[in-house]
Amino acid sequence: MCGIVGYIGNREKKEILINGLRELEYRGYDSAGIAVLKNNEIESFKATGKLTNLEEKTKEFTSIGYGIGIGHTRWATHGKPTEINAHPHAGSCSYVVHNGIIENYREIKKYLEEKGVIFLSQTDTEVIVHLFEDNLKTNCSTFAAFEKTVSELHGAFAVLLITAQEPDKIFFVKNSVPLIIAKNEENEIFFGSADAPLIGNATNAYYLEDGEYGFISQKELKLYNNRKEKLPKFKSLAQDKSYAQKDGFRFFMEKEIYEQSSVMTEALMGRVKENQILLDEIPDGFLNDINDIKICACGTSYHASLTAGYILERVAKIKTSVEIASEFRYKNPLLTKETLFVVVSQSGETADTLEALKIAKNAGLKTLSICNVDNSSIVRLANANILTRTGIEKGVASTKTFATQVAILWLFALFIAQHKKTIDQKTLQKEIDVVLSIPNVLKIENQTHEKIKRLSKRYLHGHGFFFIGRDIFYPLALEGALKLKEISYLHAEGYPAGEMKHGPIALVDSELFTIALLSKTTLFEKTKSNIEELSARDATILIISPEDFDIADDFVKTKYSDHQMREFFEMMVVTQLFALEVAIRLGNDVDMPRNLAKSVTVE
Ligand code: F6R
Repeated sequence: MCGIVGYIGNREKKEILINGLRELEYRGYDSAGIAVLKNNEIESFKATGKLTNLEEKTKEFTSIGYGIGIGHTRWATHGKPTEINAHPHAGSCSYVVHNGIIENYREIKKYLEEKGVIFLSQTDTEVIVHLFEDNLKTNCSTFAAFEKTVSELHGAFAVLLITAQEPDKIFFVKNSVPLIIAKNEENEIFFGSADAPLIGNATNAYYLEDGEYGFISQKELKLYNNRKEKLPKFKSLAQDKSYAQKDGFRFFMEKEIYEQSSVMTEALMGRVKENQILLDEIPDGFLNDINDIKICACGTSYHASLTAGYILERVAKIKTSVEIASEFRYKNPLLTKETLFVVVSQSGETADTLEALKIAKNAGLKTLSICNVDNSSIVRLANANILTRTGIEKGVASTKTFATQVAILWLFALFIAQHKKTIDQKTLQKEIDVVLSIPNVLKIENQTHEKIKRLSKRYLHGHGFFFIGRDIFYPLALEGALKLKEISYLHAEGYPAGEMKHGPIALVDSELFTIALLSKTTLFEKTKSNIEELSARDATILIISPEDFDIADDFVKTKYSDHQMREFFEMMVVTQLFALEVAIRLGNDVDMPRNLAKSVTVE
């Protein structure tokens, strides 16, 4: 995810900005840039790749003495990770950096292009600076132009803007994406999209709230919301950097579980309009002549794909098969050109998935990737790509990646259904409402986490775990078991609930833990009977369900819902927290479990 920094003061601005960006490196980025305004002139530098490349480009540049500056690390979402697409983006006398997504950028771009504005980049961000300069022509003050610009943007954004018209001010706005203003006793001013670049520089910070915008100089800070002036309340800044990088969580994995709600908002942004699914990444005609879909992936990405298999057949009415990439590679698969070949991968570098994609491409199939890393090997090879916009995932065990993969595959299924007209408008509208409710479903209530933390102490021994579920709750059971085994090193298997009696039930005794995903919307009575079969053999059972069930040894209550995807995402969070709390109790390194790597580029 992108990072933002800003500075007003006398010190060497390039150093403050680049050092600040370095503190945000943990968020992941593919290019970076800075702009410095000094003596009424703005100089800007951008580079792809690591910050050392930006340092190299700014080697000869100095900026000591009073001035202002902004900086950015970019994780590509709109447009490739190129130097032109890197921030800051420039108008004729102003520069902007931005995190988030401008949902109505196409409309703004069209409006400005009709007025003769020439765009250089493929980003949504560039519209901000041109719109601001367009508004400057008709507004009496720079701030009025900025305020008008802010009111015309839709989406989620944190923005810093500097302009030669007002050489001592940084203009800012925050909406659904974090942004912090901080200062110190020397009257230096800092901005950060997280605490880490501020710590050690500033003493007090103000965490902007959604909808707040304004400007700051060394003389004044003006803060508004809805055109009403507000007084910011600065508080003292924590001083522990590694704690700040984890936003106060114990592990990156925990932070990533908690950020699933906001990450999901980003993943969906611009892709769901009031009554339709928009996937601009799918070229016109791409789905013509496609009869069926084959999805290939590994690990967690395979579990997301398995989930999609159910949804694609049910909603889009298209035959779908899902295969583990390492198996697919060597089976001499029979492939036909009417099959759309989809690969799902967080890293875009997984060797088995990449090879599967090559096989399909060589056989002349149309290929699509669902991937988190733009410009990765898989993205470069596939004919079309839908980015999951998950940001970097530091925890080796995937959590937020799984959530966004499932959501994007679900959107893709709805997109095909819309295209093939296998869904009526009323049902589509209902699905869209549910999709838009998922960020809320992913918010974690304190009492739920506390309950899981408490009950986890009873699950540290025993001779194994079975995670069971039916329908889409079966791949979720597989994923729950994978999470637990990856970070706790306890033996865990995912099983279809109805399959236990065909063999695995022989293992059941009181030392065998069963985690049952008991959906109320999907095959409730059937799953209940399967759980009863295990209870009769004295299994220790933890049930995750909206419905109380008295045979449970432990119970985590989820909310009643009329849609299985809401239940799915809520139960997903419970299984992730369960794995996390068991592993923490066992004293394991949750973020870097033994024997595992984040990107598996070997066979
Ligand atoms: C599990 C996990 C792995 C990956 C698998 C595929 O938590 O992260 O199972 O899902 O190695 O990796 P990607 O998605 O990068 O292709």
